[in-house]
Amino acid sequence: MRAALGAARELVLVPTMGNLHAGHLSLVRIARERGGPVAASIFVNQLQFAPHEDYATYPRTFERDCELLAAGGCDFVFAPADGEIYPEPQGYMVHPPRELADILEGRVRPGFFTGVCTVVLKLFNMVEPVAAVFGKKDYQQLLLIRGMVRQLALPIEIVSGETVRETSGLAMSSRNGYLNEAQRGEAAHLHAALRDLAAEIKSGRTDYETLEREAMQSLAARGWQTDYVAVRRRSDLREPSSVEPLVALAAARLGGTRLIDNLEV
Ligand code: PAJ
Repeated sequence: MRAALGAARELVLVPTMGNLHAGHLSLVRIARERGGPVAASIFVNQLQFAPHEDYATYPRTFERDCELLAAGGCDFVFAPADGEIYPEPQGYMVHPPRELADILEGRVRPGFFTGVCTVVLKLFNMVEPVAAVFGKKDYQQLLLIRGMVRQLALPIEIVSGETVRETSGLAMSSRNGYLNEAQRGEAAHLHAALRDLAAEIKSGRTDYETLEREAMQSLAARGWQTDYVAVRRRSDLREPSSVEPLVALAAARLGGTRLIDNLEV
C-alpha cells in the first residue's frame, strides 16, 4: 500500500467492508471534496463478528466494488487479505470505554466495538491518512472512532457523512441484500418509527421512555423483533437530562436480518 501511494500525501481514507452502495460512495464524494487523493479500504473484519453472526456469508463483491470506486473517483483501493491484517492472533486490542462501547449496539453485540476500533487503528497505521470519513448510519461507531482518535492523539481528522436512504426511507446497508421483497417493503418502517418518534419530541414531548416503548410496540406489532429504540444525547449517547441535541437510535430484526438506523432530532 505504501509503495503504491508513493508520494501521495494528504490521503483521505474511507474504511469499508465492501459490498458498496450509494451510502459508501457518498463518503468517497466527501473525501474527494478535500482535494487530496482518496483511498477506500475493503476488509471484512472477522474480529468484529461474533461466532453466530454473518461473517462467512457477508456479501463479498470485490470486482463490482472496484468498478464503483473507480467511477466514484477513488484513487486507491486497499483490500488486504485476512493474513495481512491478522498475521498472528490479535492479542493487543483497543478497548473503548464501557460507558460508550457496552451500551446499545455493544450491549447486543459484546466485543463488537473492540473489534471495530482495533481494525480501524490498524488500517490508520497501515494507510497513514490525514483524514478518514465515517457515516452517521453507524452513529455509535462514529462517536467511538472520534473518541479513540482524540484520546490516543492520532493525527487524523474524522469527517462524518449523512445517512443515505432509499426513497422509501430505508437506510442503505449491505445487509439489506438479505431481505426478501416483502421484508424490503416492511424495512422502511424502522425509519418511519424513528421519524414518528422524532416528530413527537419536536412537538414538545419529553417522556422519552414512553416514546421508546411506543416505538418498540409499534414495530413488534408489525412483526419486528426489536433490540432497542433509544433517545440519547448526540454527544455521548447518554440518557438526556436537559435541553440538548438528541438522536433517536434503533436496532431491530426482520426475519433473520438485523437492521440499525438513527435520526438526529
Ligand atoms: P461498513 O458497514 O461497510 O460501512 C463503511 C462505512 O460506510 C461506515 O462509516 C458506515 O457508517 C458507512 N455507511 C454505511 N451505510 C451508510 C449509509 N446508508 N449512508 C452513509 N454512510 C453509510 O462500518 C463498517 O463497514 C466497519 O465497521 C468498518 C468501519 C469498516 C470497520 O471494519
